Amino acid sequence: MAEKLWGGAFSVPPDEEIIRYTSSLSVDSRLALYDIAGSCAHVRMLAECGIIRKEEAEEIVAGLTQIGEDLKNGTVKLDPAAEDVHSAIEVLLIERVGDAGKAVHAARSRNDQVATDVRLYVRDGIDKLGSSIRGLQRVIALAADANIDAIMPGYTHMRHGQPVLFAHHLLAYVEMLERDRERLGDCRKRVNVLPLGSGAVGGTSLPIDRTYTAELLGFEGVASNSIDAVSDRDFVMEVLSAIAILFIHISRLCEELILWSTKEFGFIAFDESLCTGSSMMPQKVNPDGLELARGKSGAAFGSLIAMMSTMKSLPLSYNRDMQEDKRPLFEAFDAVLHTVDIVAKYVGGMSVDAEALLRALDGDFSEATDIAEYLVEKGERFRDAHRIVGELTRHCRDGDKTYGDLTPDEWRNFSSLFGDDVAALVGPEKSVERKVSQGSTSPGLVKKEIAAWLEKLK
Ligand code: ARG
Repeated sequence: MAEKLWGGAFSVPPDEEIIRYTSSLSVDSRLALYDIAGSCAHVRMLAECGIIRKEEAEEIVAGLTQIGEDLKNGTVKLDPAAEDVHSAIEVLLIERVGDAGKAVHAARSRNDQVATDVRLYVRDGIDKLGSSIRGLQRVIALAADANIDAIMPGYTHMRHGQPVLFAHHLLAYVEMLERDRERLGDCRKRVNVLPLGSGAVGGTSLPIDRTYTAELLGFEGVASNSIDAVSDRDFVMEVLSAIAILFIHISRLCEELILWSTKEFGFIAFDESLCTGSSMMPQKVNPDGLELARGKSGAAFGSLIAMMSTMKSLPLSYNRDMQEDKRPLFEAFDAVLHTVDIVAKYVGGMSVDAEALLRALDGDFSEATDIAEYLVEKGERFRDAHRIVGELTRHCRDGDKTYGDLTPDEWRNFSSLFGDDVAALVGPEKSVERKVSQGSTSPGLVKKEIAAWLEKLK
């Protein structure tokens, strides 16, 4: 039976099975180093405020630091029978430094302690994820740069819309990932607020200085309401929703990479070392990592839903239900951190068949909008131009022709505004070159975008 932090008011020992059921150590032991950092800051503050003696604080900090080292080296194990990581570390501390260790829990409870630890974990996770995302953005921008001349169908409804630069399509993902980084950065501001010192629910009668603790732990502020501070898991839901949206982006990218690498599309191929085979079909070479990256989004959304369902309708303030926040949080972070790096590996190991991209555009009439806009420039109203080019396209389809096969007279049969310069309208290169609007697939603009991203992501 593990040493308990409570028990004075109990007349019988707790039921073993209840203790096993309520223990969170198997999950929250991952928070050990954050817990130690939080406790060190807390006792320094207690000493600064004269609540404990300076020498006592030093003993505690030295003991905690050593426990941290030993945990990292694997030379000590937390008591598996402990209720949670906080209890296990406090018990170990008292075991090691004796009476001084019994002072560490003044002016705090595990409710504000766990909230602090989880915030430290999330803050770290956001920073790691931010740099992984940057890494992915960078390989995508590099792939855009390396394939700047490749033109492909720009799809809507999964059908050819307008020719676009392959690089422009890739940069769409860089934009999405930039929003993910911003979302995480935004969320980080609300994560970076200190709950510690709120006590169990109503604060403490000891004269603590929470601002000092916050400073020591790098928190930008102190939670203003002790009841809210111990009840709040918004930041967990917020970061999980940012991760869920990021996973949506990843799954869309993976889906396209998988499709593009099929025999049917044949746009790209992956380094063989990134693929796996089939136990039955000898010819198979599959980008399974991308499928898994796409698939892992499901469990990440599950984490968000699990967390929201746990929090829904919980009365204030702390309830033990909230202990269930950790598994979904850890699982989502583990999955997303690994996944972003894996996807970057695939993008880095992708070769692009520019000729196949161009072939896909053959005779697809995707310059139609440019032709309508040509007529607008010559004075036609867009709706009429749209109809004219529609009729022109039907004429081509019926006669099994492309726009390039039309004679000047055939063009003029549909509108007298078509001049001898219509040849400049035909072909994917012409189409992208004609674009002038900000954010368009104009090669000049896309080159500038790539340069700006590569500079930003250096
Ligand atoms: N292990 C708990 C958690 O992770 C912290 C302790 C909660 N406090 C309590 N009195 N049971 O949320």
